[in-house]
Amino acid sequence: MIRAFGPGRVNLIGEHTDYNGGLALPFAIDRGVTVEAERLEGGDVHAEARDLAESDAFPAGSPPRTDGWRAFVRGTVAELTAIGIEVPGVRIAFSGDVPLGSGLSSSAALEAALCLALLEVAGADEPDRVELARLCSRVENDWVGAETGLLDQLASLCSRDGEAIRIDFGTLELRPAALELRGWQLVTVESGAAHRHAEGGYNERRAECRAACAALGVDQLSEADAQAADRLPEPLRRRARHVLSENARVDAMIAALDAGDLQEAGALLDASHASLRDDYEASVPEVEATVAALKRAGAAGARMMGGGFGGSVLALLPPDAAPPDGSVAVAPGPPAHRL
Ligand code: GLA
Repeated sequence: MIRAFGPGRVNLIGEHTDYNGGLALPFAIDRGVTVEAERLEGGDVHAEARDLAESDAFPAGSPPRTDGWRAFVRGTVAELTAIGIEVPGVRIAFSGDVPLGSGLSSSAALEAALCLALLEVAGADEPDRVELARLCSRVENDWVGAETGLLDQLASLCSRDGEAIRIDFGTLELRPAALELRGWQLVTVESGAAHRHAEGGYNERRAECRAACAALGVDQLSEADAQAADRLPEPLRRRARHVLSENARVDAMIAALDAGDLQEAGALLDASHASLRDDYEASVPEVEATVAALKRAGAAGARMMGGGFGGSVLALLPPDAAPPDGSVAVAPGPPAHRL
């Protein structure tokens, strides 16, 4: 029996920057999805989503299109096949402890764990992890229909245990960043509004960013000149302003952490949230209520995390603040690995 674990992720700061060639600062968490895989005679894939008590079966060589969790499994098999990995007949079962739609990237956790398990079943060497992250992102884009960027997949596959990683999506340079919290705590709280990338405002924001790039004559919004971006028509002006200011906050966060200034780190989370709410317009009332409750509980900063339009809120609590009910402490864990 082969077993592989893919972690979910927390993104400390740098939201909606990945598909704009910008900066982000995620880390893998110690919760995620575990895949078990066992070779079968014949050429079929049998898959079981234990938490949902649902199953699927399809020919490994030509998975038909579908939706829901099955699209992740079929898409991963198809994309591995497309890079020349011959996936044999296999029985797969998976379960996880990252809630679906919570903004902690259960989907990247599943893709990463599936890839590692299926590579092992196929007896294939592991490709470069950045390439694997790209493959997982093709599964999301081409099979699931969510136009997501590379943030979640890189975080799940390329993180470093105990640290955050600064990702420059313009160059795909990954750099470890120390995360010394000195007794402070990072927690996430579910807002209660589940997000759905393929249907939510996420794809609409991506289209707006493309429109802003076309108007400015740049390939990626992060390359835009701030003054030129300020002359864009609304809402493109505010979308670009979010991306440019959020990039600056990523490096400001690294500087604050390096200086041990956790109060400033909290202020940056608040500033990120305000920008996501006002300029990117990616908030919903449940998320606002969750942020407000965390601030009342003494958080130095709190912000929506992930694609927005629902999902989880991330907060930084000083040592004397009691984490409110429903909050889960999050800390950096190892990247996807075989068990
Ligand atoms: C989702 C997507 C990522 C990224 C974030 C926003 O999590 O999957 O690619 O765009 O939203 O930062």
